[in-house]
This record gives sequence, structure tokens and C-alpha cells, in this order.
Amino acid sequence: MQNECTPILDTGLRGASVASTKISDVNGKLGKLLYRGYLVADLAEKTCYEEIVFLLLYERLPKDNELRELKAKLREKRKLPESIFNFLKNIPSDTEPMDMLQASVPILVKLDGKVKTRTLDNVRDSALSLIAGIPVIIAAWDRIRNGKEPVMPHETLDHGANFLYMLKAEEPNKEMAHFFDTALVLHAEHSFNASTFTARQVASTRATIYASISAAIGSLSGELHGGANVQVMEMLKKIGSVDKIDEYIENTLNAGGLIMGLGHAVYQVDDPRALILAPMSKRLGEIVGNRLWYELSTEVEKRAKKVFKARKNMDIFVNVDFYSASLFYSMGIPTDLFTPIFAISRVSGWAAHVLEEQFALAAPKPALYRPGASYIGDYCGPNECTFVDIDAR
Ligand SMILES: CC(C)(COP(=O)(O)OP(=O)(O)OC[C@H]1O[C@@H](n2cnc3c(N)ncnc32)[C@H](O)[C@@H]1OP(=O)(O)O)[C@@H](O)C(=O)NCCC(=O)NCCS
Repeated sequence: MQNECTPILDTGLRGASVASTKISDVNGKLGKLLYRGYLVADLAEKTCYEEIVFLLLYERLPKDNELRELKAKLREKRKLPESIFNFLKNIPSDTEPMDMLQASVPILVKLDGKVKTRTLDNVRDSALSLIAGIPVIIAAWDRIRNGKEPVMPHETLDHGANFLYMLKAEEPNKEMAHFFDTALVLHAEHSFNASTFTARQVASTRATIYASISAAIGSLSGELHGGANVQVMEMLKKIGSVDKIDEYIENTLNAGGLIMGLGHAVYQVDDPRALILAPMSKRLGEIVGNRLWYELSTEVEKRAKKVFKARKNMDIFVNVDFYSASLFYSMGIPTDLFTPIFAISRVSGWAAHVLEEQFALAAPKPALYRPGASYIGDYCGPNECTFVDIDAR
């Protein structure tokens, strides 16, 4: 059968616009990222994560009382029932945290009495349940897998600080909590990346927001996407000292490997989020009395940029995962929770895309995604294959 779609090369949809969106824009040439019209650099400096949640879900920045209400609502929604903790206790303790998270999110549907009535308000409310619930699940899971009882949510702490509190069973240092919150602001949204496209594609079938977010978590788990921050930290640990950097870069590139945290499908300059994360990583290293991870990161960046220029005559740039790795590590967060933390933040962006997909906040009205493919099967030459019965094969 002849394929009637316009054939495109296998370039992972690079350069193809698949939908209209009002949520965010990435200007790869200028290194600009906008959330609903605002520069991410301004938002990182002047807002907290809960303001970003409001901005993404309600299409404007909140007023003071609206922000207070939203924070209170999220605090209320953090109080997950015993059944969720019992569910987590039954997951094998060596399960990958992203697999645990992807499996746990659909369980939250059972707490959502309004999920069958799809209105904008109801889906927004479900989005808030997911935004509040995901960090609780991750922190509780980390304690359960280490043989400890989960810590119940704090009555007054804000979103980011509460996660650190539930993870470590102690209130975080204020500057560290502020850096963590800023990291959440920076990771919240990034247009049609792989996991967001996954969320939208699932939402386009009119599946629940829980199904969309669960699928997006699966997409984020890959090392070319959210998993890259874990790989960056593994790389830094493997290198260990500045004098080993050149050898590591040479060996990795000679073997056809990747220097993790470098390169981006869209940015042709340094990722604007990395430029904000780098000084935070430096400062946190000073606070915790270990500058090694930041120093190694800056040296790898400097030297890798030179090597790419010399070898490929190509400019390579740092992406968001490059400095978030040393930042999260200096916070004492286990390496395998780096990608789940990405999900803690990105769930607000995914949710905004689900709303846009299902309630046509953008024009024109979105349709069920259904791309074509160029069939290149040549099993029987140009003809269809003649079916052979099983006992004659
Ligand atoms: C993100 C990524 C998949 C983008 O890939 P891309 O769109 O193909 O990037 P480019 O087109 O700029 O790549 C051009 C060349 O540089 C190479 N390259 C890009 N990033 C590289 C890296 N980090 N290490 C080694 N080589 C890299 C590509 O393999 C390609 O080589 P080729 O021309 O021999 O095929 C890629 O840069 C990558 O794998 N980076 C490391 C993983 C990572 O940090 N992911 C997080 C992204 S936010």
C-alpha cells in the first residue's frame, strides 16, 4: 500500500511544528526561554515555584492572596492516605525510582472523585493533586527503600522545602531550600521536549491527566532526556579529579560516547537555565564545604568546549542537566533521585500542556495525534508476502 503522508527524514521531528501553544517558547539561537511570555531568568530571580504553578495552569501570575490560597491547597493535597504508603511499601526496594514513580502516579486516580467529569476546573484540580502528591511519593519512597518510616508533610513549609524536609527528616538550611526552589522554577517547563510531547500525545486521546503524567514520567526517565543529570554526576565521580578530565574526554569521544550535560536539540548557545544553576552550584559547594563537584564541572565544560572545536570544528554548549547534577549532589540528594526531582518540577509544565491539549486554550483546536510513517519493509521485495501455514515454515 502506498503511504500518502509527506515523507520526512528520521530526524526525531527536529524543526517540525506539531501544534500551537501559548505555554512557553524556546529561542535556541538567542538562548531565551519564556514561560507564558516571561523570561525564565526573571522568574528564577523573582518568583517561587508555586507562582510558576499558578502561571502555567492559570495563564497569569497570581495576586498575593491567590498565591497564599494555592500554597494552602497544595499543603492540604500533600496529605496522602495510608493506602498510598502501603502501596509504596509493597514495591521492591531495588526498583528504579522513576519506575516506582511511573507505577505510583496512576494510583492517585483513586483519590480523585471528579476525574470522570472532565471540566477545566476539575482537571486543574487534578493537576494540583499531582503536583502536591509526586514529591510526597518520592520522599516517602526513598525512606521506605532505606528501611525507614516516611516523614509526614510539614504543616507550614513551602513546596520545595517540604520535599527536602520529608526526604531528610529535618528542616533544610534556608539558602539550600531557596536554591532547590529556584531549580524547580527552572525545570518547570520547556515546550515540546520528549516527555511533554508524550504527555500531550496521551492527553489528545482524552485519557486522564494521570495517564498523561505517568507516560511523561516514562519518557523523562531516558538518559538522553531527564536521565542526563544522573549521567553527569556519574561522569564527575568517574573523573574524580581535574587532572583526569582530558583523558576522560578523549577516551569517551574516541569510543563514540557522549559527554553528558553537553549539547541540546534546540539551544545553539549555553542553556539559559545552566547559566543560573552554575553560580548556585558554586555557592552551595562553598556552604557545604566541598567545592570539588563545581570545580570539576567548570573544568569539564571549558575543556570539552575546546576539544569539540578542535575535533569537529563545532561549538558545544552546556544544557540544564550539567550544573543541576552538582547542585543536587551538594544538597545531599541521592543521585538516582535527580530525575524524579526533575519530574517534581516538570509535572506543572506537563499539566499545563494537558490542559491546553484537552481544553483548546490554544487555537486552533488540537486534534488526536496520528502521524504517518514511511513504510520501508522489504521482506518480500516489492510484493506482499505469501502467508505460510505454521507447520510448513
Ligand atoms: C541532547 C542531544 C541528544 C542533542 O543531540 P543532537 O540534536 O543530535 O545534537 P547535534 O545535532 O548538535 O549534534 C551534532 C554532533 O555532535 C555530537 N554531540 C552532540 N552532543 C554531544 C555530546 N554531549 N557528547 C558527544 N557528542 C555530542 C552528536 O553526536 C553529533 O555528532 P555527529 O555529527 O557525528 O553525528 C545530544 O547533544 C546529547 O546526546 N547530549 C548528551 C545527553 C544530554 O546531556 N541530554 C540532556 C539534554 S537536555
